[in-house]
Amino acid sequence: MGMLDNKVAVVTGASSGLGRAIALRYAAEGARVVLADVRDEPIEGGATTLTLIEAAGGSAFFVATDVGQWAEIDALIGFAVERFGRLDVMVNNAATYTGTNMLESSEAQWERVLRVNLTGMFFGCKRAVQQMLTQEPVDEVRGRIVNVSSQHGMVASPGDFPYGVSKGGTVQLTRQIAVDHAAELIVCNAVAPGKIITGKPGAANDPHALDYSRRRTPWPRLGRPEDVAGAALFLGSSLASFVTGINLMVDGGWMAG
Ligand SMILES: NC(=O)c1ccc[n+]([C@@H]2O[C@H](COP(=O)([O-])OP(=O)(O)OC[C@H]3O[C@@H](n4cnc5c(N)ncnc54)[C@H](O)[C@@H]3O)[C@@H](O)[C@H]2O)c1
Repeated sequence: MGMLDNKVAVVTGASSGLGRAIALRYAAEGARVVLADVRDEPIEGGATTLTLIEAAGGSAFFVATDVGQWAEIDALIGFAVERFGRLDVMVNNAATYTGTNMLESSEAQWERVLRVNLTGMFFGCKRAVQQMLTQEPVDEVRGRIVNVSSQHGMVASPGDFPYGVSKGGTVQLTRQIAVDHAAELIVCNAVAPGKIITGKPGAANDPHALDYSRRRTPWPRLGRPEDVAGAALFLGSSLASFVTGINLMVDGGWMAG
């Protein structure tokens, strides 16, 4: 018995990093997973998420999707429902960043990051709730949303102004939806990763950034994508009952210090 047997999930940003780990874990727990991303090749290299799920005997589809475009989110959820009949879990994970402080950030950079990280999450949540409201509740719940925020939604993201502001928005967006749609049996929570090592090039794996993260993280290692996948599994499953509007930190104690 998997924790998500007979559940249908959509995961955005599912080709790489944390989204990939979440999609793989959901599929391993029995979910039918629709993978949404602007690219299918993982940023870190290796087989696509779809290939890995199918090789393990799971069930998934990939739908090329830019989360910042309403028409594409609309088509994505439409596809999931057409294929699998309903939508149980929506994971809004896709995000981008610039690594620029306020003075270095152009209007175009600001608009791109806010469009993907915040408007994309609004679109993902809105379209998911529209679908979930048409569904009969299962175990008291019509559908669950898991948003991937960040510890940088609560404290500043040094030198990454548009990203930090966008992540602050994701935490409040999550609370807002949880409160406004609780009576309709929609569950909405966030996962706030601390520093999780992924294969992406550039600032995220720069030795100074890693050093800073190690100093901030009490636990004696940095995070793994699987750590976040475990938390996303809990929030996507019926184990998380009477839990809504939270921002679950997966940060090795970063925010406790
Ligand atoms: N890695 C960390 O340490 C860390 C820490 C805190 C929060 N997070 C959050 O976790 C999530 C995943 O981060 P990651 O480290 O795995 O990043 P990543 O860059 O490795 O992967 C992000 C994925 O999202 C996709 N994507 C980007 N723009 C998109 C768009 N417009 N539409 C659809 N897909 C798009 C990319 O193609 C990529 O596959 C993000 O929300 C990020 O803010 C990560």
